[in-house]
Amino acid sequence: MKTTQIYPVDAQAPDAELIARAAEVIRRGGLVAFPTETVYGLGANALDAQAVRGIFLAKERPAYDPLIVHLDRAEALPQVARAIPPVAWELATHFWPGPLTLVLPRHPQIPLEVTAGGETVAVRVPAHPVAQALIRAAGVPIAAPSANRFGRVSPTRASDVWADLAGRIDLILDGGPTQVGVESTVLSLVSTPPLLLRPGGVSREALAALIGPVQLLERPVPIGERAAAPGTLLQHYAPRAQVILYRGEAPTLYATLQAEAQRWTEEGRRVGLLIAREDAEPLRSAPAVLGIAGSLADLEEVARHLFATLRALDEAGVQVILARDFGEAGLGLAIRDRLTRAAAGHVVEVTPPD
Ligand code: TXA
Ligand code: MG
Repeated sequence: MKTTQIYPVDAQAPDAELIARAAEVIRRGGLVAFPTETVYGLGANALDAQAVRGIFLAKERPAYDPLIVHLDRAEALPQVARAIPPVAWELATHFWPGPLTLVLPRHPQIPLEVTAGGETVAVRVPAHPVAQALIRAAGVPIAAPSANRFGRVSPTRASDVWADLAGRIDLILDGGPTQVGVESTVLSLVSTPPLLLRPGGVSREALAALIGPVQLLERPVPIGERAAAPGTLLQHYAPRAQVILYRGEAPTLYATLQAEAQRWTEEGRRVGLLIAREDAEPLRSAPAVLGIAGSLADLEEVARHLFATLRALDEAGVQVILARDFGEAGLGLAIRDRLTRAAAGHVVEVTPPD
């Protein structure tokens, strides 16, 4: 058991003394959870194999799932990756700091613990002032997965980190709720054309507008099977409740959600609906706890609140979560990916009766 300390930190203007203390914990091989613009990360010195092993222990993360290395600026990229192609610099110039992770050949000074034994390394420059200040003060690249127990929903608030990792890590910097709410987009530049391993905070359309077509990963791999490519496990980001994802249009979508909520309730289950604000009125008589992630017209809002809404439904004690799909435009693709993973592939296509 470790004693976990939690300190509030100003998200815009982090206190230099507190950051210096957190950086010292990192340099001494400790574990610090900190806010990024996407989700909270669990950081350790990326150059210290022993410290990195501590991340896997605290999260109960299998050693075959590699970590993202965080830098405070793009110019540091040659310290962690090699054979960096021009397209990487183009992407870095355009999207860093920000929610884009690039997979590149590993620099030999990055321990194999970080890359899960692989010859590639995932790298990003986060935009959050606290993350930036911490990396700069530590003076080393920081390896950081999302600060949740493996397989659980990623943390968008310090209280989520506390719930999963208290007693297992040294320090939590509480910078309030994160802005983007879903994790970074992971793009592999070791394949041609670039391969989108995980949709996230930077949309596929935005990437394609800059560098042309990106390849989409076919199908995530069910949990229990070792994925050929890291990051492709199907069940991940799961709340405790069983999740079922519904794809289709109103009014058939509403009729289906209503009928399914009714059916599960009759079977004695507590039901939650993960829906948009616009769905609340048409579904007002469904026997379910409503989890409203945001507006259909504002997918940034939906992404920001997605994980907290899943956690809230868990806390409300529901056993089944019926979730609506939010399309595939912009952040919709990342939202669909997280909900599909939470549902472990249990996706229902809703089609109107003909
Ligand atoms: O927004 C984010 O990316 C957050 C914040 C903290 O930066 N981090 C995050 O880390 O989501 P994590 O570990 O939860 O997810 C990293 C993903 C995993 O799916 C992992 O398999 C993939 O990136 N990944 C890491 N290194 C890789 C590599 N060398 N090749 C392919 N995928 C890799
Ligand atoms: Mg994660």
